[in-house]
Amino acid sequence: MKKFLIIGGSGYIGRHLFDHLGPDRAVATWYSKPFPGGVRFDPAVMGLQDLAPDPGQFSHAFILHGMTRVNDCVQDPATSERVNVREILALLDGCTTYSIKPIFTSSDLVFDGHRGLYTEIDPPNPLVRYGQQKRIIENRLADSEKTCVVRLPKVYSTAHDGVSLFSVWWEALTSGKPIRCAHDRIFSPIDVTDVVAGLTAIATRDLAGIFHLCGPRALSIMDLYKIFQRRLPTDLRAIDPQPCRINGLGFPETWPLDISMDPSHIHRATGLRPRDPEAVADDFLANALTLNTSS
Ligand SMILES: NC(=O)c1ccc[n+]([C@@H]2O[C@H](COP(=O)([O-])OP(=O)(O)OC[C@H]3O[C@@H](n4cnc5c(N)ncnc54)[C@H](OP(=O)(O)O)[C@@H]3O)[C@@H](O)[C@H]2O)c1
Repeated sequence: MKKFLIIGGSGYIGRHLFDHLGPDRAVATWYSKPFPGGVRFDPAVMGLQDLAPDPGQFSHAFILHGMTRVNDCVQDPATSERVNVREILALLDGCTTYSIKPIFTSSDLVFDGHRGLYTEIDPPNPLVRYGQQKRIIENRLADSEKTCVVRLPKVYSTAHDGVSLFSVWWEALTSGKPIRCAHDRIFSPIDVTDVVAGLTAIATRDLAGIFHLCGPRALSIMDLYKIFQRRLPTDLRAIDPQPCRINGLGFPETWPLDISMDPSHIHRATGLRPRDPEAVADDFLANALTLNTSS
């Protein structure tokens, strides 16, 4: 049986995807952060033939790697152009050579944010360089029955991992740091467990085309915080975040405002119904409070 290839297996989503698929079904790569069972892959100097004697053993390649921090892409444009565009285009050539179907993870930042609740047929118009780089790859994959583009919104989780939204807010609250929440930035966040379920469903059903793999609700970062806040223990619930505008945070580019997406297409194609933010917040706080009690 053919395996899945996860390029960027050491990243946030890649780790969860590899945990779910396991080494019998997938080979996962790392670039600078080794992990047990992972394979080193540097797209600058390596090709798919360096990952396996016969790269044709892979049915699908999840392309999850890259320079993923939006501000880094504009602050170091030469590196981001190389990593996010040129090396990914070369990798896609390799996928064609070995008949591996690429599943490329793009972003809600391909939209200009003027409208929101974007569907897969709405025209992208990225404002920020990261989104523009994603769009170049999307264009290369357009109109192919043999490729897949998965646009993701902000991904969060129920884990106390120090990086996802609830965890960052919890750490700030419990260490007395202020929290700023943009009230004008609208998005459709999704739990990483649902991302893994969606990516797996797309690959196992061998789907092609563009999919918006996003949460069920469009809401602002401030709205999400309020959902979280209502569930906090009384002492932490009393602390209000500082409202702000997304473009008042000092980013080097102007960010789009409403980049919420419509998940209907992936729901119809796979039956997947990502969890709503209330359920994710409930699970996060149950985990965090258990950890607090046991420490
Ligand atoms: N997480 C989100 O909220 C979100 C939202 C929208 C879209 N996405 C997209 O989803 C995908 C996965 O995101 P993620 O959050 O899992 O990313 P991530 O945690 O930042 O992981 C990035 C991955 O890229 C690898 N990498 C970094 N620089 C590299 C280079 N120069 N050459 C080769 N590999 C390199 C990293 O390897 P090492 O760690 O080993 O160095 C890591 O495996 C990305 O395409 C991202 O743009 C994510």
